[in-house]
Amino acid sequence: MTHTLMILPGDGIGPEIVAEAEKVLAWLGEHAGLEVTSDHGLIGGQAYDVHGVPLSDGDLDKCRAADAILMGSVGGPKWDDVDYNLRPEAGLLRLRKELDLFANLRPAIVFDALVDASTLKPEIVKGLDILIVRELTSGVYFGEPRGIEDLGTNEDGGVERRGFNTQTYTTSEIRRIGKVAFELARKRGNKVHSCEKANVMESGKLWREETTKLHADEFSDVILEHMYADNCAMQLCRNPRQFDVIVTDNLFGDILSDEAAMLTGSLGMLPSASLGGADVAGLYEPVHGSAPDIAGQNKANPLATILSLAMLLRYSFDRGDLADLIEMSVQDVLNAGIRTVDIAGSDGCAVSTSAMGDALIDALLKRNAQSA
Ligand code: IPM
Ligand code: MG
Repeated sequence: MTHTLMILPGDGIGPEIVAEAEKVLAWLGEHAGLEVTSDHGLIGGQAYDVHGVPLSDGDLDKCRAADAILMGSVGGPKWDDVDYNLRPEAGLLRLRKELDLFANLRPAIVFDALVDASTLKPEIVKGLDILIVRELTSGVYFGEPRGIEDLGTNEDGGVERRGFNTQTYTTSEIRRIGKVAFELARKRGNKVHSCEKANVMESGKLWREETTKLHADEFSDVILEHMYADNCAMQLCRNPRQFDVIVTDNLFGDILSDEAAMLTGSLGMLPSASLGGADVAGLYEPVHGSAPDIAGQNKANPLATILSLAMLLRYSFDRGDLADLIEMSVQDVLNAGIRTVDIAGSDGCAVSTSAMGDALIDALLKRNAQSA
């Protein structure tokens, strides 16, 4: 069976890290019989520079038609002054929205070899394995009305303006993301923390009520705890291992997943999957951004993108065996002490992006030889 893959390298370090994931893909084609037809498209600032929009209709259609999408990253200071709806980020938001990729899975795992890379004490983070399930197509990211309006002249003679966004969630939006979280929890530690601000927001109150009801209706075998999002942020630093699955809205999920990622030592290690209905392509991308400060320097850590490819193989190509192989090879590389600069520590010696990719290929070869 031949799978189709759409590859969107994007901006900043995107092209460098995606190139390493493509090396892995080519290796799997050669040594593991994986048949993939891939195509490349533009997203973010790259697309804006060429098409005047951060995601063209043509590339969107190709994404829609593919079995899966692998993305690098979008954004950079070059496009800081571009209009909101044309900014690089808008291309990614459009892709998420048009494909209805409502469930964003962001695992935060501390690899044993990297336990010292975390800014938290080893005894707090050792063995950490949590999964953030972030709602991705609603909430304040998409709510209407939104805008910046002129309110006339203020007391200082300047223009008084008002910026506003709308946080909204419906019953069905809350239930469908809740279902994903409960179902995934059943395959892991069987515990879900649902996070909102029910103490100050109606949308949070609804989130809590609907999640409670869903739990009682269909998932009473799973442990459910409600937590205010600010408390969750604090608890993630205090005692992160109390969590198994965290389900939360689009904005809190954006913030809490960056925090959870950093518990593991580096944003450069964290993959993600964005999933929708059964017939739509999943989107796989590293949690980190485009890191314009190190772009083009062959310094970035490609492991988050390579681990995103592993998630892609697991969820979209139904090749959990190959996902396992990649994940174990990543551990091998880390156990061998090979580090990019983000995880090298102060006295460590760092390898380049491409050297990390090569090291991973070596690890794959070794594992392959052992199992042959
Ligand atoms: C993320 C990013 C995006 C978001 C940006 C690039 C639009 O921060 O995927 O976490 O805010 O969702
Ligand atoms: Mg983010």
